[in-house]
Amino acid sequence: MAKKPMTEKPEVETTGHEWDGIEELNTPLPRWWLWTFYITIIWGIGYTIAYPAWPLVSRATQGLVSEEQGNTRAAVAAEIESYRAKNAEIQKKLVATDLTAISSDAELASYATNAGEAVFNTWCVQCHGREGGGATGYPVLSDNDWLWGGSIEEIHTTVTHGIRNTDDPDARFSQMPAFGDILASEETQAVVQYVLKISGQEHDAALAETGMTVFIDNCSACHMEDGTGDRMQGAPNLTDAIWLFGGDEASLTETVTNARYGVMPNWNSRLSEADIRAVATYVHQLGGGE
Ligand code: HEC
Ligand code: HEC
Repeated sequence: MAKKPMTEKPEVETTGHEWDGIEELNTPLPRWWLWTFYITIIWGIGYTIAYPAWPLVSRATQGLVSEEQGNTRAAVAAEIESYRAKNAEIQKKLVATDLTAISSDAELASYATNAGEAVFNTWCVQCHGREGGGATGYPVLSDNDWLWGGSIEEIHTTVTHGIRNTDDPDARFSQMPAFGDILASEETQAVVQYVLKISGQEHDAALAETGMTVFIDNCSACHMEDGTGDRMQGAPNLTDAIWLFGGDEASLTETVTNARYGVMPNWNSRLSEADIRAVATYVHQLGGGE
């Protein structure tokens, strides 16, 4: 093949490589690029001197600046430890203080409420909802209506031992019988009308009249004669129109026929006493502090 000469002679030199008439030019890199490149190398070396970088046998070089700025792992760990130590002190105080006295100590109350909110958002929201808003079967904790009691001591007991669980022999316990096996279906219908009546809802007056007798005979031992409930047994107030399982005719019929069995885990096996006290304090103030 004939060699074709290049039409324009380049100003730069060639590397001397040539193949099939194509010559390799030796164009120098642009100045600005080269200088940026050198600067990054210098910066890189400087950085490895200033900050932890080169691996050695047991640990990396520590760097000159990082120690001063306190942003090494050790410094972070020390900081966490110092907060933990600070908390340990106030947690000890929280455990030592009488439950009823926590709210009158401003520093303790503020710590307990904040720490309690964190505990609540980790362990309790999935059942009781944001800020204790509740759901069907899971009581609202932000109102002043309590199944088992709303004083700080009662809340503390509920949270410590739980309700109707099989893990803690001291769990709060009670059981409403399933009246499907006990009452005739007309009696169930009648007592449901009576519950509708005492909770201020629309009802069949004649049936409710019969229902009252059924109620006194079968329900008053737990829900009291006037239907206002009994906290010793966790038997809800049926007159306040606040329902755990629903207050319409269908839900009430279901409750009376098959009963309900709300279970809450005990927290003494999972949370420290300080955390239980903190979350009890948080819940107590959510409900307005009975
Ligand atoms: C697995 C679901 C579940 C979790 C998690 C849970 N609870 Fe409960 N809790 C319940 C149920 C169900 C009841 C109602 C039981 C009943 O029917 O008597 C209840 C009842 C309560 C009560 C009694 C309310 C009253 O009216 O007397 C308090 C207080 C309470 N929970 C606090 C807490 C706190 C604090 C936590 C987090 C540490 C928590 N619960 C976590 C299910 C749960
Ligand atoms: C042995 C005690 C006991 C007896 C007797 C009893 N109950 Fe209950 N009742 C309870 C308890 C405890 C609960 C709460 C169950 C739970 O939280 O899981 C309850 C819950 C209810 C509820 C649900 C309230 C809500 O907020 O959703 C209704 C309604 C009710 N009972 C009606 C009756 C009626 C009507 C009778 C009589 C036919 C009756 N109960 C008899 C203990 C009893």
